[in-house]
Amino acid sequence: MEASYSYEDYKETADWLLAHANKQPKVAIICGSGLGGLADLLEDKIAFPYQNIPRFPTSTVAGHAGQLVFGKLQGQECVCMQGRFHFYEGYNLQTVTYPVRVFSLMGVKSLIVTNAAGGLNGNYNVGDIMVIKDHINLPGFCGQNPLIGHNDDSFGVRFPCMSDAYDRDLRTLALQTAKEQNCGSFLQEGVYCVVAGPTYETIAECKVLQKFGADAVGMSTVPEVVVARHCGLRVLGLSLITNKVVTEYDSNNKANHEEVLAVTKLRAQDLQRIVRHLVTKI
Ligand code: HPA
Repeated sequence: MEASYSYEDYKETADWLLAHANKQPKVAIICGSGLGGLADLLEDKIAFPYQNIPRFPTSTVAGHAGQLVFGKLQGQECVCMQGRFHFYEGYNLQTVTYPVRVFSLMGVKSLIVTNAAGGLNGNYNVGDIMVIKDHINLPGFCGQNPLIGHNDDSFGVRFPCMSDAYDRDLRTLALQTAKEQNCGSFLQEGVYCVVAGPTYETIAECKVLQKFGADAVGMSTVPEVVVARHCGLRVLGLSLITNKVVTEYDSNNKANHEEVLAVTKLRAQDLQRIVRHLVTKI
């Protein structure tokens, strides 16, 4: 299998963005569903709709603005993805992760990813914010890893290490900042498991994921993190627990997108505040 993009493709996009934004961000932020409000907080903003960026994939989901926003967050130059690409939309994983290599070629050193996730850990509550300590790449177990195919050595090694995927110093910084921002009472640190989606999990699947040691489950983030680590970016991941997964057959609860969006709306401000205050310390 050949890579679907060449080094020159990523480079063309990166050079175009550097020339047109005329900014040199060190931090990139991928905003999860309903968490794109962070990009609105940037100062000296300049935004590029995905369809205007050479070779950039375009977004299909309603509610995803689909633009790259450059600007300053508390004085730190950042680039925010307002709307990400999901595997369940039909994109291959090279396309899902295309922006990450572009960020790397632009000179970005750290990647912050946010997402909405279902809580598997019985001690978690709806509205908790989880600092991601580690992940389980379930599609990766089944042959869906964005690094499958030709390895471009100019990005990274053939067999990248993932035991240090989530930067310890950034995790400490996130936990500390969250407490300073009065978010300590709903703060967690745990393991995120990615599934392909778009179906939510069955009861039996939730029980399996719990036995695997996962604390939260979602449909994003891990492909981007794998590619970011391959090319040497430091990574911080934050999950917003939008629902508790169903693990009892007599339960009347059902996972649904409306609940996910409602909880996201409730906690988006807190999550944004944490990110805003921690980027200055990176
Ligand atoms: N499962 C998978 N993805 C999710 C969930 C869930 O329960 N909640 C939010 N994203």
